[in-house]
Amino acid sequence: MPPLSAATIRPARQLRGRLRVPGDKSIAHRYALVGALAEGRTTVAHFAPGADCRSTLACLRGLGVEIEDTSAGVITLLGRGFGRLRSPAAPLDAGNSGTTMRLLAGVLAGHPFTSTLVGDASLSRRPMRRVMVPLGRMGARIDAVDGHAPLTIHGTALHAIAHEPETPSAQVKSAVLLAGLHADGVTSVNEPAATRDHTERAVTAFGGAITVDGLTVSVRGGQRLAGRSLDVPGDFSSAAFWLVAAAALPGSRVEIEDVGLNPTRTALLDVLRRFGARVAVDVAGEDANEPRGTIVVEGDRTGTVEIGPDEVPSLIDELPAIAALAAHGGRVDVRGASELRVKESDRIAVLVSGFRALGIDADERADGYTIGGGATGARPRGGIAHAGGDHRMAMAFAVAALAADRPSTIEGADAVVISYPGFFDTLERLVS
Ligand code: S3P
Repeated sequence: MPPLSAATIRPARQLRGRLRVPGDKSIAHRYALVGALAEGRTTVAHFAPGADCRSTLACLRGLGVEIEDTSAGVITLLGRGFGRLRSPAAPLDAGNSGTTMRLLAGVLAGHPFTSTLVGDASLSRRPMRRVMVPLGRMGARIDAVDGHAPLTIHGTALHAIAHEPETPSAQVKSAVLLAGLHADGVTSVNEPAATRDHTERAVTAFGGAITVDGLTVSVRGGQRLAGRSLDVPGDFSSAAFWLVAAAALPGSRVEIEDVGLNPTRTALLDVLRRFGARVAVDVAGEDANEPRGTIVVEGDRTGTVEIGPDEVPSLIDELPAIAALAAHGGRVDVRGASELRVKESDRIAVLVSGFRALGIDADERADGYTIGGGATGARPRGGIAHAGGDHRMAMAFAVAALAADRPSTIEGADAVVISYPGFFDTLERLVS
């Protein structure tokens, strides 16, 4: 399907089907980055097809990494070893991808050359001080425009630090750990709350040693990593849209195979149970320390879900999908989620205005929102919602619009190419 600038979503009664979702974006970024720092060949199957992970590959090519990218979703790259990336001839473009920019900043801080990371308009609005401050303490000099991209990184020999981020962030943790691999001594990150641990698992899978003690993760610099073959599980955050749609439309049944089940990512399943869905999980095995398996969700009852600050870090990318639960009856109330304002869009503002445009009650607060709460079973009237250039907003509005009385339009629907290029084709296949 060619990219869509607008998508029409027709009302649906239920979703049924069995499917795989594209490879996990967070994991694919890490396999490419860590593979580039390892020695020898790395082959990654089911590499994430979205534009974000393509940005990581393009940046790595700009740093002298040879990458073969087959149409079958398998990439092969020749690792250059620590500190051996090549000084780039031009700025490195991270596109829309915060993970590319922040993790690469950590890697580049430890390379003895100057490089510039640029991004699109959305990424250029996102806060970068959270990586600039710790990487600066390790010895790198980073120039930015008032804490925003473009970032010019003057890399150097780094020294280890103990970092205590104020905000839970896997991207910040990962940037510091990747810099720590290039540093003299043991670098540690003590997180205020647990975040996804794919960097820790990936470094271990490539033969490195990482120590985890509660919320403190430590890594010694100067380790050698070895290239290997890996297979990326399906992206739980993409699966989330189907799981929510199935939970929200009673009588639905969706089965997602070979999806990542890393426990730092799956808190949504508990939310769906609280809402009233039947959820079954079968862990089939592990590849490179990442558990994977099958999830089945059946829609049954609609209820109320309250999410507070403690749960937010483990649900951060699923909050847009979760909001769509309330489009179909019930209510979703989120607090302590001001981080949503600095994602690909201001997800609190864009979410609330999009839901209202679809005829669903929505109230905005500084750190969250309440969606729904209208009469149970009453279908929203539908309308035109704007994705605000944000892939997860486009998908959340599409799921919400399934509940409407008449067809709705999602403007800017082509944003789904960031993480889920085939989203609308799959939607058409699953609805009835
Ligand atoms: C990601 C971490 C999260 C998440 C993002 C991907 C990662 O961001 O929202 O989509 O791959 O590390 P933060 O670490 O900034 O919370």
